[in-house]
Amino acid sequence: MPCPTLLTLLILIISIPKTLSQQEYVALRQPDCEHTYTPTLGNICNSVNSCQSYLTFKSNSLYNTSTSISNLLNSSSSLVSQSNNISTLQIIPADTVITVPVTCSCSGNNKYYQHNSTYTLNIVGETYFSVANYTYQTLTSCQALIDQNTYPVRNLSVGLNLTIPLRCACPTKNQTDQGFKYLLTYLISRGETVSSIADIFSVDPQSILDANELSSDSPIYAFSPLSIPLKTEPPKNIIRAASPPESPPQTPPSGGGSSSSKKWVIVGVVVGVVVFLIVILAVFFLCFYKRRRPPPKLPPPAVQKLWDSHAKKVSSTTQSSSLSSEGIRYAVDSLTKYKFHDLQNATKFFGEENKIKGSVYRASLKGDDAAVKILKGDVSSEINILKRINHANIIRLSGFCVYKGNTYLVYEFAENNSLDDWLHSENSNSMCLSWFQRVQIGYDVADALNYLHNYANPPHVHKNLKSENILIDGKFRGKVSNFGLARVMENEDSEGFQLTRHVVGTQGYMAPEYIENGLITPKMDVFAFGVVILELLSGREVVGGDKNNGLLGDQLLSSTVNEVLEGENDREKLRGFMDPNLRGEYPLDLAYSMAEIAKRCVARDLNSRPNVSEVFMVLSKIQSSTLDWDPSSRSVSQVSDS
Ligand SMILES: *[C@@H]1O[C@H](CO)[C@@H](O)[C@H](O)[C@H]1NC(C)=O
Ligand SMILES: *[C@@H]1O[C@H](CO)[C@@H](O)[C@H](O)[C@H]1NC(C)=O
Ligand SMILES: *[C@@H]1O[C@H](CO)[C@@H](O)[C@H](O)[C@H]1NC(C)=O
Ligand SMILES: *[C@@H]1O[C@H](CO)[C@@H](O)[C@H](O)[C@H]1NC(C)=O
Ligand SMILES: *[C@@H]1O[C@H](CO)[C@@H](O)[C@H](O)[C@H]1NC(C)=O
Ligand SMILES: *[C@@H]1O[C@H](CO)[C@@H](O)[C@H](O)[C@H]1NC(C)=O
Ligand SMILES: *[C@@H]1O[C@H](CO)[C@@H](O)[C@H](O)[C@H]1NC(C)=O
Ligand SMILES: *[C@@H]1O[C@H](CO)[C@@H](O)[C@H](O)[C@H]1NC(C)=O
Repeated sequence: MPCPTLLTLLILIISIPKTLSQQEYVALRQPDCEHTYTPTLGNICNSVNSCQSYLTFKSNSLYNTSTSISNLLNSSSSLVSQSNNISTLQIIPADTVITVPVTCSCSGNNKYYQHNSTYTLNIVGETYFSVANYTYQTLTSCQALIDQNTYPVRNLSVGLNLTIPLRCACPTKNQTDQGFKYLLTYLISRGETVSSIADIFSVDPQSILDANELSSDSPIYAFSPLSIPLKTEPPKNIIRAASPPESPPQTPPSGGGSSSSKKWVIVGVVVGVVVFLIVILAVFFLCFYKRRRPPPKLPPPAVQKLWDSHAKKVSSTTQSSSLSSEGIRYAVDSLTKYKFHDLQNATKFFGEENKIKGSVYRASLKGDDAAVKILKGDVSSEINILKRINHANIIRLSGFCVYKGNTYLVYEFAENNSLDDWLHSENSNSMCLSWFQRVQIGYDVADALNYLHNYANPPHVHKNLKSENILIDGKFRGKVSNFGLARVMENEDSEGFQLTRHVVGTQGYMAPEYIENGLITPKMDVFAFGVVILELLSGREVVGGDKNNGLLGDQLLSSTVNEVLEGENDREKLRGFMDPNLRGEYPLDLAYSMAEIAKRCVARDLNSRPNVSEVFMVLSKIQSSTLDWDPSSRSVSQVSDS
């Protein structure tokens, strides 16, 4: 782009005398990728080479601790904590304005004030525009990113590291003379005015107008950066943003012509972030309260005792009460103790026609459908876990019955059987899950695992995740079941691990470290989940599974993904890997993201696997992008892929 660059230089030379004194307000031009305006590229240097400066950043569900924010902005978490009077570990509520101390320097040949950071692209479909506008909230500009990175605009891919020039400035001689020591880059929120911002920092509104070359009647806009001259360090108390009443409109990037083909991905990402934020906030408020107090560590009570003390009590309290402060007690109350003959009647004497699979029977209890599972021996662990768990994507245990040495567990009923039935049954050609249903189920399972690992009290490892244990309800939502092998995570903070000599599980889903060393960590669920995603994508069997090409063998599905995603033509290979029952009706970009996260989940080394919270995040983005995907635009998206 020699022409714009030349033009820039020209404008730059002309405008230097003017901009030397103060910085020009960029208004809404930061995310504009196409048109070059001088102030967009950065604040032009004056005689000061380097100075202490501040940025503001609004916390969100991705960046919600001083550590993650300081990593994003290349500051230090201790400095960020200090500047905001928060602890390093504290989760910052969304939309809190955080001040971030940085060193601002005069950089490179361009002589722009900037603070460098590095960002590694990690989502398929990210563009210079999305990085500038969404990830960095306009602290950097699309033009400056294009200017200071060598990657072609249309050729960004996951894993590339971008140089991020963050907009900052040092005080001019004039400002120093007036006693200003720092310039803070402030992100304007909806509804703010120069004078309301001046109040926050206790400065004269006129000094802000001067610093940004604004006159008193110039408009300012939300989502644009404003320089605030400060005589002292910015206030330490967290500044609450005048939070927008509703989520910002998801207008497609008007200036992002370079990314137009991927617009829907960006929009999807934003919708995803917003949805995710809401979900997380809800979960957060429900669960964080409980987590703050160490969970009352009950000695796993002998189930028999519980039964005795509650034998007479037939309660119909719902499980939701288990989230109340006296969770444990209520949880026990919430389980119904059934009479054996009621179950007999409800299942037509455990007759063949009511048999779902194995020892699981369909029951009709007072008109409600339920599933009854017959188990021998000690099932206290499954009861103890499920009675305390309340999550829409984990199958609910409503009660139990003990009769002649067997335990009968009564669960909520999932109308559509298991994922395994849908993906691998004989007639899976006639009954096929759509792309959307698959993504939704993957998202649901990730949600459940995230809850289990991070929010359940105490946290658990499922240990036996597989498509057979993922049930599908009437609305095609996924529900994780079968907690017979689940274990309490001993030490949730240090990811403490446990060893077992009793390795049980299903071939193809078991993580290598578990098979080899009996190591039990949350990462074994992540591995199994990766395999489930691969099943969702390919419809293949977990072992030896290319039913469609007739290639049978001992190859594990978890190892095929590497061949698919490596080397040349990975997208073509992915197309070949996908379940032919989908008949090509899926967005390849999103399928690629799914395959990529699955690949990371099934990494041999457990430390290379992502945490389930990260996996959940990625799936929630894919899920919301899928909402935007219109199957009828399939041909369009396929053209743009090739
Ligand atoms: C905080 O951020 C992490 C990822 O960076 C995310 O997993 C977690 O859910 C977030 N928590 C809240 C309360 O937003
Ligand atoms: C920092 O926070 C603590 C409580 O969290 C409060 O007592 C103290 O006054 C705060 N300091 C400043 C400078 O705001
Ligand atoms: C910031 O990055 C730019 C572009 O990579 C480089 O020219 C400049 O020297 C860097 N500045 C600092 C202070 O590292
Ligand atoms: C982070 O900031 C420092 C200055 O504070 C700079 O020297 C360094 O190059 C930056 N790191 C990256 C990765 O840009
Ligand atoms: C695009 O990126 C890929 C790998 O990231 C590289 O092999 C290819 O040469 C790039 N294409 C262009 C036009 O730069
Ligand atoms: C990006 O940076 C990370 C960490 O600094 C490094 O491991 C990775 O190899 C870099 N990627 C590229 C493509 O340079
Ligand atoms: C410096 O600031 C004063 C106000 O304090 C203003 O009148 C004057 O024009 C400014 N000088 C320059 C060169 O901007
Ligand atoms: C940049 O992001 C903001 C907030 O997320 C959004 O309201 C705005 O429309 C985006 N800008 C463009 C040009 O899309």
